[in-house]
Amino acid sequence: MPRLLARDVTLGYEGRTVTSGLSVAIPDGSFTVIVGPNACGKSTLLAALARVLRPSAGAVLLDGQQIANYRSKEVARRLGLLPQTATAPGGITVGDLVARGRYPHQQLLRQWSDTDEEAVVEAMALTNTSDLAERLVDELSGGQRQRVWLAMALAQQTPILLLDEPTTYLDISHQVDVLELCARLHADLGRTLVAVLHDLNQAARYATHLVALRRGGEVAASGPPAEILTEELVTDVYGLACRVLPDPETGTPMVVPRRPARSTTATNGRGGSADGVVRADG
Ligand SMILES: Nc1ncnc2c1ncn2[C@@H]1O[C@H](COP(=O)(O)OP(=O)(O)O)[C@@H](O)[C@H]1O
Ligand SMILES: [Mg+2]
Repeated sequence: MPRLLARDVTLGYEGRTVTSGLSVAIPDGSFTVIVGPNACGKSTLLAALARVLRPSAGAVLLDGQQIANYRSKEVARRLGLLPQTATAPGGITVGDLVARGRYPHQQLLRQWSDTDEEAVVEAMALTNTSDLAERLVDELSGGQRQRVWLAMALAQQTPILLLDEPTTYLDISHQVDVLELCARLHADLGRTLVAVLHDLNQAARYATHLVALRRGGEVAASGPPAEILTEELVTDVYGLACRVLPDPETGTPMVVPRRPARSTTATNGRGGSADGVVRADG
């Protein structure tokens, strides 16, 4: 049995069900990527896996026991969550925020240790945030802030890391940096990573295990991207016609959306006439 799994869970908010009967297992040591359309329940699933949200039926199991039965610090030593929208306390510096990642490791009456300091320094180096240490979190760009939150999650040094859209707000080069960092954490340090991503091609490149959710929070398919990421799956999950070609760089599946068929005879590809003016007779 894997260390982390959701078994037959019903998840929702105040009487509104997002998903029911959902079972998702996170293979140990995997880089699992969750994809699916907006509002299908990806963040909700991650929150349940991290015990931020309690299932109204079914259970999340961590190391063979119901996650609900652990003490909070015990959960926080085993898994870390980077939420999709995190808000920092006002007026906090980057260094102090990242240091909060060490909270689960601190005991009553025990001072900040060299181990804590090393974890923070290392997490900031890995995420290229060392230069930002003295800056106020409130004053950072969205991309800088995203990397700072990632640093905080890394400083926690948990064997399991859940990342909700860690690449949103980042430019393409920082997206690659974050994904390469995740790949290294997974390959070199044996961490189990679970990330929600929107870019299917990045998901196919980096995931060892892909979970595709469709609207209504059902698993449409799960497994290695090369096996499950097909035109049929993309159509099923997103309602999008596409072609799936081998990524010229990695050979992994690459999704190329098809242009929707248009009733117009326009040839400039924008649904208007060649000079860009939309005419009633066009
Ligand atoms: N805190 C909340 N209270 C009420 N409804 C919520 C809350 N968070 C999410 N939802 C709803 O639950 C559904 C799933 O949301 P979410 O898990 O955030 O989707 P995703 O991450 O796949 O985009 C959506 O319909 C969303 O509006
Ligand atoms: Mg989300």
